[in-house]
Amino acid sequence: QTTQLISRRIREIGVYSEVVPGDINVAGGLPADVKGVILSGSPWGVYETGAPAVDPALLDLGLPLLGICYGFHQLVSIYGGEVLPQKKKEFGRAPVHFKADRLLFEGVPGGFTSWMSHGDSVGRLPGDFELIATSESHVAAAKHREREIYGIQFHPEVTHCEYGNEILKNFAIGVCGARAEWSIAGFIEQESAALRQRTSGRKVLTLVSGGVDSTVVAALLLKALDPADVHLMYIDTGFMRKNETGEVERDLRALGAENLYVIDARSEFYSALSGIFDPEEKRRRIGDLFISVQEREIAARRVNDAFLAQGTLYTDMIESGKGIGEKAHVIKSHHNVRSPLVEEKRGRGEILEPLARLYKDEVRELGTLLGLAQSTVERHPFPGPGLAVRILGEVTSEKCDILREADSIFIEELKRRNLYDEIWQAFCVLLPVRSVGVTGDSRNYGYVVSLRAIVSRDGMTADVYPFEMKDLLEISSRITNNVPSIGRVVYDVSSKPPATIEWE
Ligand code: XMP
Repeated sequence: QTTQLISRRIREIGVYSEVVPGDINVAGGLPADVKGVILSGSPWGVYETGAPAVDPALLDLGLPLLGICYGFHQLVSIYGGEVLPQKKKEFGRAPVHFKADRLLFEGVPGGFTSWMSHGDSVGRLPGDFELIATSESHVAAAKHREREIYGIQFHPEVTHCEYGNEILKNFAIGVCGARAEWSIAGFIEQESAALRQRTSGRKVLTLVSGGVDSTVVAALLLKALDPADVHLMYIDTGFMRKNETGEVERDLRALGAENLYVIDARSEFYSALSGIFDPEEKRRRIGDLFISVQEREIAARRVNDAFLAQGTLYTDMIESGKGIGEKAHVIKSHHNVRSPLVEEKRGRGEILEPLARLYKDEVRELGTLLGLAQSTVERHPFPGPGLAVRILGEVTSEKCDILREADSIFIEELKRRNLYDEIWQAFCVLLPVRSVGVTGDSRNYGYVVSLRAIVSRDGMTADVYPFEMKDLLEISSRITNNVPSIGRVVYDVSSKPPATIEWE
């Protein structure tokens, strides 16, 4: 996890960085534009069997190196020092004092609070290294006496580490001599040229879902290529959020989309789910129908022979093992359906993944620079099967309309209270029960809606958003006042694990 953070921090400094496997073979050298290498942390101990190890040839390339935590331990062990296993993990803020005024600590005061997270520590430095900083009980940093090889025990990439950005910047720019030239504006130029060259006037198709990534891909293609060659397809399943279809269409038209196919497949999807209660069966039917509608419409628009551009991100590459070695603790998203179209296009080398080098926050910046509305680029994540997994039990068009209404009120209220950006994902769930209520003098049975709002870094784990009770009460009454068929609102206070974010 912090390996990703290191890479992101370096990019924020304006220097392009990539994560590569720790055990990458460097015998053939590294690309000429590599200015330096950072060896990241790891949950392993250097002396454990099977522990990841760098190719020692890396040290012969003459490149500046910075070992962080485990990376430091590796340098120590390669150069003949000693790493001590520790019984107790040191975790959290820890004061560091540095002894020697080095390039790495340029502009950093002699004492600062670092962030530690380690079991092992350096017991004895190799003879080639000198101590440059200490914490209360450990070696905090060291430098090779003759070469630009540094090791640090703390984690400058973690935001709690004071002067962490300065230290990384000192390494990237001061020590390695990299220039701060990485910018999203520059990326647009480079990637546009690459797209033009790769496609050379052929058609490109993108399946737009309404989410941030595919919309940004569409925007980039419209900017980079002749809009006449860009074909955008959006399938309205009937499970989209309120006004979503209209907003996607408006956004893409504003960017010059000429071939935008908005497919109204609502009634097909509603029929496919009629009488179906089992969540797995619902998902399966939606997935299958999606693929068949897609195939049919692509054939009808005669875009079978087009390149297929997808919104794969850098983190997807890493999660699928394409960007990082086998040893990384890989977590693969279980939600991505393998589509025959993608398989076929991949087999023919006709897939374009223009965002594959970017992190999510860079994609948002790119979307903004390309002229997409802020409301589009800041959108919360939304599952492929949409509202269908938020209507427990049988899905009907009537229930979709009720849920859409409640959900849009919830989101509107969050935006009005400036809470939307603090929350990672928020939505309503329509429960399969009716509960009694009173309106005027009569008793009636209304639907129950559950609000869900969570904070998360990546959706793999999640905490419940701790609303002020006043906010919850006001949101609840706005929903029941405006959506007559909803009689009761509850708040889901389950974290993930043990619950999942979605209910189905
Ligand atoms: P769970 O419910 O597994 O969700 O905690 C984690 C994240 O994934 C989203 N999600 C999906 N995304 N297709 C998707 O593209 C799906 O079938 C799907 N199911 C869940 C969910 O909204 C959350 O952001």
